[in-house]
Amino acid sequence: MRKFVYYAPTEIVFGPGEWVKTAAEIRKFGGSRVFMIYGGHSAVKSGLIGRLTENLEEAGLTVLASGGVVPNPCLSTAEQMRGEAVKFGADFILAVGGGSVIDTAKAVAHGACAPEVPIWDFWMKKAEITRSLPIGTVLTIAAAGSETSDSAVITNDLVDPPTKRGITTDFNRCRFAVMDPELTMTLPVWQIGAGAADIFMHTSERFFTTILGNHLTDEIAGGLFRDILKYGPIGVRDPKNYEAMSEIMWCGSISHVGLTGLGARGDTSRDGDWACHQLGMAMSAIGDYTHGATLTAVWGTWARYVMHENISRFAEFARMTYGITAEDPEKAAEEGITRTEEFFRALGMPTSLTGLMGHKPDEKELHAFTDECSYGHTRTIGTFKVLDDRDMLEIYRRAE
Ligand code: NZQ
Ligand code: ZN
Repeated sequence: MRKFVYYAPTEIVFGPGEWVKTAAEIRKFGGSRVFMIYGGHSAVKSGLIGRLTENLEEAGLTVLASGGVVPNPCLSTAEQMRGEAVKFGADFILAVGGGSVIDTAKAVAHGACAPEVPIWDFWMKKAEITRSLPIGTVLTIAAAGSETSDSAVITNDLVDPPTKRGITTDFNRCRFAVMDPELTMTLPVWQIGAGAADIFMHTSERFFTTILGNHLTDEIAGGLFRDILKYGPIGVRDPKNYEAMSEIMWCGSISHVGLTGLGARGDTSRDGDWACHQLGMAMSAIGDYTHGATLTAVWGTWARYVMHENISRFAEFARMTYGITAEDPEKAAEEGITRTEEFFRALGMPTSLTGLMGHKPDEKELHAFTDECSYGHTRTIGTFKVLDDRDMLEIYRRAE
């Protein structure tokens, strides 16, 4: 095995009814004035925000709740909430929701420790994060894996066109994540499908790497692929199925906590390929599309575009995920890609840009995606095959 550093400090509290332990977790990590962030309406409607506020206050914590985070969360909301958190004198940030809420909480936590620094400066690496408030999460959707990841993704809605960027730092690590699968049972099936697709992709992005030779990591990746393949479609059909929703939830954290990419870190600055995430994030920035759906819309096209870089890796993916044993690696690879597209469709996800956007994209839209994805034609993406702006445009075109 290669050299690696593995760091995953988030405490997981998992199981039905476990949300009641949130106050004790906050206390354990030194919180007393809790700035609680949530999304649009789901957590209020389900009664969770009310129950949590009551529970935390009964435990002697002072709570200020602030809602309004939207999917593909906006910088303007993070800035506004940072102001509220500073005024309140928050010493702990609690995120109640999914990736959008958690990533906003991360931005607020960093921003609250440097009130004079525009939050976007951290994202643009114009300012360094040297301190942050502790963050905890009560997770209500299994998808982004932000509850255990070291990244945070925000859309800058203060520029035109908007731009969506992520940052990676250990300051993004949550102190704890309360993961109560029953809290996810109110999810619309579209979000369950998009979440399962994102979970699959967080391992796929790591699996298709140029850094090979870590057998245990591949075995964990194979287990993750097979588990989400089994339980994702069950969750979409039956959101009240505890077994499925709990498996999906744990898959979500395991998929993005670095385990399925272990050993693929060190000699490269990135622990995988991540081209589909970059292609997808550009589409979300411009068109506000659901994150998981942007990934499934391009994955098959990306896979066929890059597979000849290492056809045996794609054959291995097909074998370990679907048990495909075709002798010809090219045939196995193609079969694995087709089966994955079928899986995405079983989740209710699109496998083309037309499916994602609801209309056939025109050249202007494809160029807008390419401009955003290439950061104005200044960067390449991917490591399995390095893709420049022409490749990006070609993939968008073929994915039509
Ligand atoms: O806003 P509300 O009303 O709460 O509704 C939300 C939202 O509309 C709803 N929802 C969440 N829990 C619910 C529920 N509805 C009913 N019942 C519940 N229990 O679900 C919708 C989507 O929520 P969101 O937080 O946007 O979903 P997700 O967790 O998929 O997060 C997506 C965001 O995370 C980023 C994505 O780019 C996107 O912005 N990512 C973050 C990553 C990270 N920090 O590590 C990695 C990912 O690759 C991803 O990029
Ligand atoms: Zn993702």
